[in-house]
Amino acid sequence: MTKQKTLWACTNCGHSENKWVGCCPTCKEWNTFEEEASLSDDTSRYSGTLTHAKPIKIGDVEISTAPRISTGFEEVNRLLGGGLIQGSLTLLGGEPGIGKSTLLLQLSGQLAAQGLVVLYVCGEESAEQTSLRAQRIGVGNTSIYLLPETMFSAIKKHIDSIKPDVLIVDSVQIVYKPELPSSPGSVSQVREISMEAMQIAKGLGITTFLIGHVTKGGELAGPRVLEHIVDTVLEFEGDRTQGYRMIRSHKNRFGPTDDVALFQMEEKGLIEVKNPSEALLHERIHGVSGSVIIPTIEGTRALLVEVQALASSSAFTNSSRRSTGIDAKRLGLLLAVLEKRMGFQMHTTDVFVSVAGGLRINEPAVDLGVILAIASSFLNKVIPSDVVVIGEVGLNGEVRSVPRIESRIKEALNMGFKRCILAKKNMKGVSTTLQDKIRLHPIERVETAIEVAFG
Ligand SMILES: Nc1ncnc2c1ncn2[C@@H]1O[C@H](COP(=O)(O)OP(=O)(O)OP(=O)(O)O)[C@@H](O)[C@H]1O
Ligand SMILES: [Mg+2]
Ligand SMILES: [Zn+2]
Repeated sequence: MTKQKTLWACTNCGHSENKWVGCCPTCKEWNTFEEEASLSDDTSRYSGTLTHAKPIKIGDVEISTAPRISTGFEEVNRLLGGGLIQGSLTLLGGEPGIGKSTLLLQLSGQLAAQGLVVLYVCGEESAEQTSLRAQRIGVGNTSIYLLPETMFSAIKKHIDSIKPDVLIVDSVQIVYKPELPSSPGSVSQVREISMEAMQIAKGLGITTFLIGHVTKGGELAGPRVLEHIVDTVLEFEGDRTQGYRMIRSHKNRFGPTDDVALFQMEEKGLIEVKNPSEALLHERIHGVSGSVIIPTIEGTRALLVEVQALASSSAFTNSSRRSTGIDAKRLGLLLAVLEKRMGFQMHTTDVFVSVAGGLRINEPAVDLGVILAIASSFLNKVIPSDVVVIGEVGLNGEVRSVPRIESRIKEALNMGFKRCILAKKNMKGVSTTLQDKIRLHPIERVETAIEVAFG
């Protein structure tokens, strides 16, 4: 008998130590260490699945010309770089209840309709629950097999007998190997299961999806190594209470990254939103202060979003700042700029900022828009409803140029906007034909932007 050695592993990055430590030496996160037991040497990971590979000259590698498999969702195909690659391993992450199971069940339906055999491992729910959902969203194809199982070896047995084309594991945190002493969802279990999934995808050519839970901080639960192992990482975003859901590709070995697809959750499941700008601006109310329309770039596409701000004088000594969809640190910085450049008493003002539709925007090109939305609410003056605002703001109140200005302006034009406030440096990136179609207000400083916006 080999003695089991106890290890401690970081749940964030997977780094392991012989003893518990408070702060991870690799990723510097606190309180992320969990007790793990390492595998004794005689339990080999790839027992039975390992085929011995030989080195091949790079030019001699046979490249299969198999076309990409359509997922049935135009937007998802675009996200993946033109469809699914056979034998790829994809991780779909997202908060509880966001719609991960729904999406992959719909996808299963589409793939089954093309004659592919799908094995759906529903470890988190009973087959009955999953079947009920399938009925609700209208997926009743017979070539989808449901498997309510959580033990890996049992799942593997069924994979070998059914020989599916597509495997879906819902979720990677619930499947476990009993020979590992740690509990399901722990670092070593998740790492093992995802390595096995890689083996199934690459070794057997089965297109595989893993569903992964996301922690409160928005990180994928389990170690970062999971993200390194898989080919593609898709993340489901959006407020659970709001209808809109966004899928973002964080990593993609076969296509572009940071692209997004917008969906709406309905009784029949997820519906693709073909014109996101239109959908996002649909509920906009004209003529109110604190609202600004900003053309942002998400991956390859331009998207118009409405940023709303509410600034009201604070009843307490510590004013509060809340933001949804905009980075809180960035908001603090923009407020400081407003206070310093414009003399607005922001420190005695409560400020709330949100992106309509529950979207999360990370690019600095929204800075100027956020500042104008706050100023609009603070001054109680309306920004004309035919204006869009584009620009990054520096610490000294200077407005900087942003990438892909033309795509942004074109999207604004498509949606019927007539005027655009932008950085002066961006002007040379706008063709004269485009300049003729929209009224541009080039500015260099935040102060001027406020003058232009409120007349
Ligand atoms: N009858 C219904 N009509 C409309 N939407 C529904 C209905 N039933 C469920 N939903 C939506 O589906 C969501 C749950 O979807 P799903 O179970 O696919 O999420 P999940 O990400 O797999 O969650 P979990 O992490 O719990 O597995 C709910 O939050 C709700 O928005
Ligand atoms: Mg689920
Ligand atoms: Zn770590």
